[in-house]
Amino acid sequence: MSHEERSTIEARLAEEEYYSPNPEFIGQANVSDRSVYDRFDEFPDGFEEYAELLDWDEHWTDVLDASNPPFYDWFVGGKLNASYNCIDRHLDAHRDKTAIIWEGEPGDSRRLAYQDLYREVNEFAAMFRDAGIGADDVVTFHLPVIPELPIGMLAAARIGAPHSVVFGGFTAAALANRLDDANSRYLVTIDGYYRRGKFLDHKQKADEAVEQASVDVDTVFVLQREKELHPETKIVEGRDVVVEDVRSQYRGAHVEPVPRASDDILFLMYTSGTTGKPKGAQHGTGGYLSYVAGTSKYLFDIHSTDTYWCLADIGWITGHSYMVYGPLLLGATSMMYEGAPDHPHKGYIWELAEKHAVDIFHTSPTAVRMFMKWGETHLEPYDFEFKLLVSVGEPIQPEVWRWYYDHVGRGDTVIIDTWWQTETGGVVMSNLPALADMKPGSVGHPMPGIQATVLDDDGNEIEPGTGTAGNLVLTRPWPGILQTLYGDDERYISEYWEKFSDLESRNMDDWIYRTGDGAVEAADGYFRILGRLDDVMNVSGHRLGSMELESTIVEVPAVAEAAVVARDDPVKGQVPDAYVVLKEGVEPSDDLREAVVASVAEGIGKFARPAHVEFVDALPYTKSGKIMRRLLSDISNDRELSDTTTLEDPSVPEQIRRQVQGA
Ligand code: WT7
Repeated sequence: MSHEERSTIEARLAEEEYYSPNPEFIGQANVSDRSVYDRFDEFPDGFEEYAELLDWDEHWTDVLDASNPPFYDWFVGGKLNASYNCIDRHLDAHRDKTAIIWEGEPGDSRRLAYQDLYREVNEFAAMFRDAGIGADDVVTFHLPVIPELPIGMLAAARIGAPHSVVFGGFTAAALANRLDDANSRYLVTIDGYYRRGKFLDHKQKADEAVEQASVDVDTVFVLQREKELHPETKIVEGRDVVVEDVRSQYRGAHVEPVPRASDDILFLMYTSGTTGKPKGAQHGTGGYLSYVAGTSKYLFDIHSTDTYWCLADIGWITGHSYMVYGPLLLGATSMMYEGAPDHPHKGYIWELAEKHAVDIFHTSPTAVRMFMKWGETHLEPYDFEFKLLVSVGEPIQPEVWRWYYDHVGRGDTVIIDTWWQTETGGVVMSNLPALADMKPGSVGHPMPGIQATVLDDDGNEIEPGTGTAGNLVLTRPWPGILQTLYGDDERYISEYWEKFSDLESRNMDDWIYRTGDGAVEAADGYFRILGRLDDVMNVSGHRLGSMELESTIVEVPAVAEAAVVARDDPVKGQVPDAYVVLKEGVEPSDDLREAVVASVAEGIGKFARPAHVEFVDALPYTKSGKIMRRLLSDISNDRELSDTTTLEDPSVPEQIRRQVQGA
């Protein structure tokens, strides 16, 4: 972090302000008294509070086995099934209650009662089982936000098969990588889906991915959204199963939920890291579900009577933890929307919120900045009222926070700014909604049972209140923590633990989880998150690794080298800028610029496209041969160049800067 960034932090700290939760919220909150958290004074036993929210087939014998850090086992000896906990156990009391409200982009809508969800999940589970899927076979889902996605996830979980959901916006190449890494022989896809009124072909990506992947994909389950309108979807004999065609065989099926050991895998979620290869965060069953149920109840304040709407995609961890598992574990109603927030009009989100009387609303700062840009007039016609608002995924600037509070919260609704990661499984830092004041721009404190602190690069703790930024670390395990990176324990250690832990020690106190984020802890104990310290950026709340983009760009035949850095963006938070060196004798051109952008759109997905491509003669290399992206980031963000003394050729960044500024 540069000196300049540090001084801006100090300046920002000067404008501290607090907002108190309104008494009406406190009056109805699941936790309005700190004593609920008294149990958390005991570590790790406090987390039993969360595990007790679930139904276990076998009770655990030990809360935590930490004998082999950083591989932690929670609720050891316990057995449970995720699908049973999300559905079956609610049937007696809530059979007819709505589990999922789904709104499709073209205006189609579905409402599934818990009984309906039970029926559909069982039918899917029977279909999966008949296809030969057994416990521990990874089932990959490549779908938009449609009810069959949570149905399929819960069906897989019912038979003990881990799911790996790949965000629908990822391309065939990205899907193929993930199929291979997970050694997944089963894929669920769909003919197509709608985005801003257009029907997009999706099945083609599955066909290409299966072609490209090294793993032999046995079965591709094909959902059909528009059989009549788009009958052209290609079906591969012997491999593809058209779900609608086989469905009737499974009417009324009941599949016994398979009891899973607490540390059996529930799912994989691929995320970006500092190398080009995506990493499969592996989440277990008992610890993850306990943590998600606990945070959903106590932090998101979900009651079974609530209609809760998280405007995210199930293809990311937010959707897993807080669209599917959290609300369903608590027997609440989870609302899902398939489409773009401005389709068919810019007030549509608020129209839907009114229509379904949503009372908890969850979104990202990027979405709030977009709503803010469109203007509050789009909200005014609608009669919605939320009791709680959630922000997740990126730092929310105080002025954006205030807009959220004033216009979506209408000046008195509690906002929680929740900090977490794919790896943490659930929220690990936030202001507790009824117990702590809100502080715009800060994520609040570590959640009960969680220990967080800020370290300098040498591993020394930074005193709170000094305004000095450092590495945000977590110094104790929690039940939602990933188990490992799928099939790669070594990378798990090197990405998260190596930097600050004593790798020889068998004592968990010597193991420190590096989050990769920079943070400042204020004198009042509130943490402010500054963003990633590693070569990972956050575009509209989606995590992207520089190396991932670079390895796609260098596949363009004319490209010799590429470096990608994040540029701050008023709406998306950050956007990728690409600096590209062409091969000898190749001249820069608009066509090549388009080819670079297209390589990312095709290799990763449209959401990752570089905002700007700059062709340069050379990249700034250190004497030891590493690209110094920090200097390119200085240029992209129009900052003074930081230290260049370790460069092989210190004149490179200045040349690039002059070129960018058109001098
Ligand atoms: C990264 C994790 C957690 C679900 C969505 C993203 C950033 C997340 C916040 C927040 C500031 C945040 C961090 C983190 N981040 N929440 N409230 N304030 N930054 O999950 O894709 O795993 O990304 O998102 O940089 O490391 P993810």
